Amino acid sequence: MNIQIAQFDPLSVETDALILPITSADKKPMFTAAISEIDVAVGGELTRFASDTNYAAKRGASLAYATAGRLPARRVILAGVGAEPVTSENLRRAYGAAVSAARDAGAKSVHLALPETNSVQAAEAAAEAALLATYRFTTYYGKARAEDPPLKEIENLTISDGPDIAAAVARGQARANAITLTRDLANEPASVLHPVEMAARAQAVAEANDLEITILGPAEMESMGMGAILAVGKGSAIEPRMIHLVYRPNGANKSDRSIGIVGKCITFDTGGYSIKPYEGMLEMKGDMAGGAAVLGAMSALRALDCPHTVHAVICAAENMISGEAFRPGDILTAMNGVTIEILSTDAEGRLVLADGLVYCSKQGVQEMIDLATLTGAIVVALGDGTCGLFANDDPLADRILAAAGAAGERMWRMPLTEELNDQIRGEVGDIKNTGGRGGGAITAALFIKHFAEGLPWAHLDIAGCNRTTKPSAYTPKGATGWGTRTLIDYLVPGAE
Ligand code: BES
Ligand code: MN
Ligand code: ZN
Repeated sequence: MNIQIAQFDPLSVETDALILPITSADKKPMFTAAISEIDVAVGGELTRFASDTNYAAKRGASLAYATAGRLPARRVILAGVGAEPVTSENLRRAYGAAVSAARDAGAKSVHLALPETNSVQAAEAAAEAALLATYRFTTYYGKARAEDPPLKEIENLTISDGPDIAAAVARGQARANAITLTRDLANEPASVLHPVEMAARAQAVAEANDLEITILGPAEMESMGMGAILAVGKGSAIEPRMIHLVYRPNGANKSDRSIGIVGKCITFDTGGYSIKPYEGMLEMKGDMAGGAAVLGAMSALRALDCPHTVHAVICAAENMISGEAFRPGDILTAMNGVTIEILSTDAEGRLVLADGLVYCSKQGVQEMIDLATLTGAIVVALGDGTCGLFANDDPLADRILAAAGAAGERMWRMPLTEELNDQIRGEVGDIKNTGGRGGGAITAALFIKHFAEGLPWAHLDIAGCNRTTKPSAYTPKGATGWGTRTLIDYLVPGAE
């Protein structure tokens, strides 16, 4: 899909689909001047159609009206923004749903109009949502699909022009590209996207965005004392990698803040010798989604002119079984000297994060945020589609919750219940890597807290958010790219 910007008149533009935003009040659609003019041109049919179908312009609800020759545009698609206040998330849902409806109706050319107010914000949201809503992972569609009808694809999307619109569309595209990268990485099979390949993809992002990159292999990890990630990676034929990227701002709006973001990147999680059952292993190619979100966010910081220094640490390993693999009962020493008793080799995410966080804390950062598909327990606690936030610092937690709200990523703060530390107290070492049945997401977070090195730290457990089987306005099935938008809205003020 090619995005362009041009002025057009909704009444005379020749297009397959004309998308117009519409808000609602008192559960009724509020016709804008442009929509009313179209309604007049089609003899009041649009009003009648909207009322016959009980169209209420709810957020993310679109109404497709076929003009049947009454207008040069073949279809008018109303994009429901919902009630006031108009937010970027509401606009993304409105435009995302409308663009998918246009595509599914077979439209090749689409014209998208902006609201009269908030048009710059809307242009950014429209570009982002249009790209995300039409996302597909088709890398492995092969010969057997050759005889199927070709996939429906919008060829040209024209966004209406105006002051500052081009820059806003460019920002929306940069955001969408970041989330697309995150989704692509998490959709790749583990045979392709292993730790060494992840490092290669990070290298490409670094080169394209003028980021510094250091990639640590087993020898470097050994010399730094990273006994935890090394143990997790030992059972795999492919070596682990600790991937460290640095974004340094240039230009006038440079701040003196330095922020660390750390991602769990288990490219496949069999569970190791504490092996997962069939069902539990099915989606474990996606156990690298935290690392993917971190890399996705890093890929957008230059284009969005982030003012802060950002250190990204991606802890990449594959949790496999072999004669070399680590075992229950093993005792590991993490980079900060804390010793860890292994009860379950399936609680591997917290192990790679331990070394990743300690390493990150030594880079001069003032705070750290980690993202990880860490526990099944967070899905039990919060259900699908809500991320659990744990933090040892209230202002940091509040800032992240605000960013998640702007990003439209559902997040709920969880407690770091001190008393539950008893559950992970070690018998023969300092701490155990699992804490029993109760509060599984909390004991996992308490474990990681031992590696925050006293810095303000937040942990995002995204196990229930990284993939979906239920498509929504601008998120199709499969990898969602979760966390990328929250990170971008956190790191780039006003990016929302
Ligand atoms: N990668 C899993 C967590 C997970 C579960 C992610 C479901 C996405 C969907 C993690 O490594 C894991 O296996 N956690 C264990 C921890 C347990 C052994 C303490 C779990 O949640 O069962
Ligand atoms: Mn596991
Ligand atoms: Zn895992």
